[in-house]
Amino acid sequence: MNDDKKIIIFDTTLRDGEQSPGFSMNLQEKLEFAFQLKRLGVDVIEAGFPISSPGDFEAVKAVAQQVEGPQICGLARAMEKDIDRCWEAVQYSSRPRIHTFIATSNIHVEKKLKKTNKEVRDIAVKAVKRARGYTENVEFSTEDAARTDRDYICEVIEATIDAGAATINVPDTVGYSNPWEFGDLIAYIFEKVKNVHQAVISVHCHNDLGLAVSNSLAAVRSGARQVECTINGIGERAGNASLEEIVMNIETRKNFFDVHTNIHTEQIYPTSRLLTRFTGIGVQPNKAIVGANAFAHEAGIHQDGMLKERTTYEIMSPQSVGWTGHSMVLGKHSGRHAFTKRLEELGFHLEGESLEKAFDSFKELADLKKNVFDEDIIAIVDEQSRAADYGKYSLEDLSINIEKQQKPNAHVRLRSNGDIVEATGAGAGALDAAFSVIKQLTGMEDAVLVDYHVGAVTTGTDALGSANIILRKGDREVIGRGTDTDVLRASVKAFLNAVNRLIAGTEREKTYAV
Ligand code: KIV
Ligand code: ZN
Repeated sequence: MNDDKKIIIFDTTLRDGEQSPGFSMNLQEKLEFAFQLKRLGVDVIEAGFPISSPGDFEAVKAVAQQVEGPQICGLARAMEKDIDRCWEAVQYSSRPRIHTFIATSNIHVEKKLKKTNKEVRDIAVKAVKRARGYTENVEFSTEDAARTDRDYICEVIEATIDAGAATINVPDTVGYSNPWEFGDLIAYIFEKVKNVHQAVISVHCHNDLGLAVSNSLAAVRSGARQVECTINGIGERAGNASLEEIVMNIETRKNFFDVHTNIHTEQIYPTSRLLTRFTGIGVQPNKAIVGANAFAHEAGIHQDGMLKERTTYEIMSPQSVGWTGHSMVLGKHSGRHAFTKRLEELGFHLEGESLEKAFDSFKELADLKKNVFDEDIIAIVDEQSRAADYGKYSLEDLSINIEKQQKPNAHVRLRSNGDIVEATGAGAGALDAAFSVIKQLTGMEDAVLVDYHVGAVTTGTDALGSANIILRKGDREVIGRGTDTDVLRASVKAFLNAVNRLIAGTEREKTYAV
């Protein structure tokens, strides 16, 4: 059925989002995230840029092979070798899509591509035809569309639709436009491009001036029927349009936009949280829809209104986006049954030894901490699965000595395949000392710490601490994570997790961005 009110949600978290610094994921994480995107109900998953690295290729292929339902798309420059490689990866999907692109703005055409407008148009047509040789599901993007001459963009769009593109994507690559101008551009395309109704018009907006969501929505008002977006708005520089904001605008203001999506909105918050778990980068507390304060009502007058009638200050319910807040669930008197039930409600199905271990960790935590929240339980299971997945070395003991007028030193004891290795060393600070000892014990002396963040899983001084580390060895980079009631131990666990990942070869290869 041709539903002209349906907005196709094209998620590019795994491509435009993942290629931005600090947001890298390994293959297993990308796959798990793609399964979550399916649960969320996205129509298209752009799983990566296959030619950019063997790692990206394998990830797109794995998603295409295993994630059934959404269309699985790969990115390709308007070049034969990119398009061929992209097809090699997406062909395994029952609904594969090739997304090819070339820049059309004067500045890109002249300075970056060093070509004429006619040459670029011909390259675009050739690329679409090449992709059509593989599939009917071809998307073409006019990179830097928002700064492209309007008549030229219409000429390229018309030619690429004639060549067989089923979707035409109009990107504001540098986040330069505003809702009035961008909405006008889309309306202009509908007015001038003769064959426009043979393709879906899509938009892809970046957030350099904070207008990515507004620009995308303005485009929807002008007739665009696909929106490209990312979870938590991650992406190049200031990011892409945020999926959750686009979808909840359309949902909450149905009376205004008069369109709909297939998104299961109650999966929004779990998806946002999964991305944070995998990348170690959270959203700001006041972020719309998924920020910690998005549904918090502090002001007395608001609380009073809310108690009388929720809708006085709430335009959407927290439950509608799957928000549970820091719900207090269990304490030290809670039993195994309550713990297992809560685990299952949170989507974890543990059995046997893993369930026993998780329950023991929960009891230990409940002894140290008055209230155990959902986030704590998730952290416990995460910590356990890290140990099981990549556990060549595990932390047996850590003691830190920080005394006035002395260089801090650390004693680290590790277990490796039943053997114990241990050493003591000094450093500029306690963590420097502990990290140096671990490097020495594991033979990772040349690994370089690229990034390090610590945070708290919940609130309060007794909260679990979480640490994220990026470690580089040669041209390989990995993310390590750790949680513990003690933030130093959390950091050391994260460092060890990264070392284990380097040893296991589960790193993400560096890709090059477009
Ligand atoms: O921002 C952009 O122009 C892109 C294209 C490849 C669609 O990411
Ligand atoms: Zn982009």
